[in-house]
Amino acid sequence: MPSYLVTGAEGQLGQCFRSVSEEFPNHQIFFANRKLVDINIPETIKKFYNTHPFNGIINCAAYTKVDQAEKEYSKVNQINSKGVENLKMFAEEKKLSLVHFSTDYVFDGTNSIPYQEDSKPKPINIYGESKYKGEQLLKHANCLNATFRISWLFSPFGNNFVKTILKLSQNNDTIKVVNNQWGRPTYGIDLARTILTHISEPYFFDYQCYHYASQGATTWFDFAIRIISLKNRVCEIKPCSIEKYHAVAKRPLYSVLDTERIEKHFSLDLSSWQIALENNLYRMQSL
Ligand SMILES: NC(=O)c1ccc[n+]([C@@H]2O[C@H](COP(=O)([O-])OP(=O)(O)OC[C@H]3O[C@@H](n4cnc5c(N)ncnc54)[C@H](OP(=O)(O)O)[C@@H]3O)[C@@H](O)[C@H]2O)c1
Repeated sequence: MPSYLVTGAEGQLGQCFRSVSEEFPNHQIFFANRKLVDINIPETIKKFYNTHPFNGIINCAAYTKVDQAEKEYSKVNQINSKGVENLKMFAEEKKLSLVHFSTDYVFDGTNSIPYQEDSKPKPINIYGESKYKGEQLLKHANCLNATFRISWLFSPFGNNFVKTILKLSQNNDTIKVVNNQWGRPTYGIDLARTILTHISEPYFFDYQCYHYASQGATTWFDFAIRIISLKNRVCEIKPCSIEKYHAVAKRPLYSVLDTERIEKHFSLDLSSWQIALENNLYRMQSL
């Protein structure tokens, strides 16, 4: 039975993997939070491996605070770049496969058509830069590896836009939401299920990079309106431009990912973000 280690298991995506793992009885999956496996402390990876040997790593560990990253350059790079290098070196030594995640924020957002896997990255913030460095480290890795670039991750777990809007709408009559930033929301449960469905297939590592997101592009504004309307909340969503939002880190205005590669290669029928959102809200109720 193939076995995998999920790092960063208490983060949003790590919890998505845990949540769907029982659907995959033919895989043995170990979940390690930062206390068990710190990707910046190679001995912890080795120690875990010695007691729970695995064939592959699914790296959900990351530094993801986009605004804070602007002030924590060294910390964000330590995790998103050096940490990835540690995993790469361990995977090379033990001949393991390595699945990694990156972001639409490796792009500068000046495109007017969706970004493909080989579009030129040009990060415009520290977080995006650190994630791009992590990607580059894996380019010449001497082990099976695949990086999934995802965008606007949401799920019942961790911190994400859906949960933020639901929380804000409980205590506010109006919420201002950015209406000039375009992207594709990614439902973490669908992503985790896709990876576990295909990870043991020989074609999985045919490409080193895949773009993955739910179907359809939107703005945060339209995303918020949909959340509020599906939950029948009485709260007005007001449009606001990203320039007026005064976030610390710059964001790409248009970071829509083109997912054709993975759709064809894995024969996927991606759910629309609207259906994925409904599934997510339903799943949240049963937690
Ligand atoms: N969230 C998004 O919208 C989004 C969008 C595009 C791409 N991504 C990518 O998707 C992946 C998963 O993101 P996420 O939203 O699940 O992130 P998350 O919720 O922030 O989870 C990251 C997890 O990694 C852990 N971690 C941090 N440093 C670590 C270390 N040195 N060793 C082990 N674990 C460590 C964190 O633990 P602590 O809490 O203790 O620090 C946290 O549990 C990341 O690669 C991210 O860059 C996310």
